[in-house]
Amino acid sequence: MAGSGTILRGRVIHAPEFGSLREWRDGAVVWDATGVITDAGSARDLLARNLDARIIDVRPWVVIPGLVDTHTHLPQYPAAGIGSGELLPWLERFIFPLEHDFRVEQAERLAPLFFRELALNGITSCAVYAALWEDSCQVCFRHAEASGLRVTMGKMMMDYATYSETAPVRIVEQSLEETDRLCRQWHGRDNGRLRYAVSPRFAVACTEQLMRGAADIANKHGATIQTHLAENGEEGDVVAHRFPDARDYTDVYDRCGLLGPRTILGHAIHLSDREIDRIAESGSSVAHCPTSNFFLRSGLMDLWRLRDAGITVGLGSDVAAGPELNPWRVQRAAIETRNALAVTKPTTPALEPRHVFHLATVGGAQALGRGDETGDFEVGKQADAVVLNLSAVVPPGADVEALNADEVLALCLWRGDARMTKRVFVGGRELGIKD
Ligand code: GUN
Ligand code: FE
Repeated sequence: MAGSGTILRGRVIHAPEFGSLREWRDGAVVWDATGVITDAGSARDLLARNLDARIIDVRPWVVIPGLVDTHTHLPQYPAAGIGSGELLPWLERFIFPLEHDFRVEQAERLAPLFFRELALNGITSCAVYAALWEDSCQVCFRHAEASGLRVTMGKMMMDYATYSETAPVRIVEQSLEETDRLCRQWHGRDNGRLRYAVSPRFAVACTEQLMRGAADIANKHGATIQTHLAENGEEGDVVAHRFPDARDYTDVYDRCGLLGPRTILGHAIHLSDREIDRIAESGSSVAHCPTSNFFLRSGLMDLWRLRDAGITVGLGSDVAAGPELNPWRVQRAAIETRNALAVTKPTTPALEPRHVFHLATVGGAQALGRGDETGDFEVGKQADAVVLNLSAVVPPGADVEALNADEVLALCLWRGDARMTKRVFVGGRELGIKD
């Protein structure tokens, strides 16, 4: 593809395997005219092999794969960092009224800002819960399409009417019909850059009929499924009470056909060994949302327990229960969660920046079913890359050039935010993130 390729030259760092980093100090990522990576490695070699390519030289800045947010809620963004309380009262008081009022006008205002903020944070792929209303979802999808990001998204589904005073529930047939229509329209758009996520909220707010119907729609279209599982103790009690025949919370979803390799389960904190084994066996992934788990005091998810069982884990901001979209803050909270667990369980292995960076890239991509598409700079994947300038976050007196790759990621994770993001590429196409 000489002549039509692009070379992005900088300090390249990625994490194809869990527990290790690969780095080229003077490195490059090369992609062809279709945005597919054809080479990655030392700049000297790649320049010699691609003489006609367009060169984007960002040295001494850092080039990483686009980050992945596996769980976030678009309509909730205005409540980020504002609410209080644990899950069920928080939903009732702060979230349901907001989602109820999330009509077309609000969607038109918020959706472009939301996707722009994702890009500013270096997030190139995401899984999003959108509005409860079909027309508002249409607006969210139009803006997702315009954003240039890889967006997996779906209409929030909930139909259990007696559950809440403030919950904006839809009757089951209507919810399924709207979901099917949106899925047919948007799933797979722009070569799969947009995907549909059938999104039953959680077992507390859904009837069995809705959950079964949701699974059918997802199977029919090969769409993603996303829901919340075992986030909070009180939530677990309500589910046990509502579904007395189920063996446990996971079994509620299992019986409705909601588990499988296209399923992303948010939180997954309070689980028995049986549930973990069953999730692993089904091939479902988990969206670990540690900032949210701290904010709502939901609990400490034992990442190693899930990883050791073979479950794919990505990271999620879970805005607005998570106060920020900032993916570095989420990585940091994953480490803090492990450190808090280790107080009472000292055998818990350490979690280093290199581990959580892998979860925020490759793990997230795999959780979204996009593992062959993005997450690292392997040849054949899409050129999803983010350019970082660390000077805004480096402490006074420290020298970025003297830091090794682990230290660079540590700095990003402990002190980093959107100020670092300089350029963002999705499938080789640069997004306009600066005004
Ligand atoms: N469980 C059900 N709905 C929600 C939600 O909107 N946010 C979080 N964090 N948990 C949920
Ligand atoms: Fe959530």
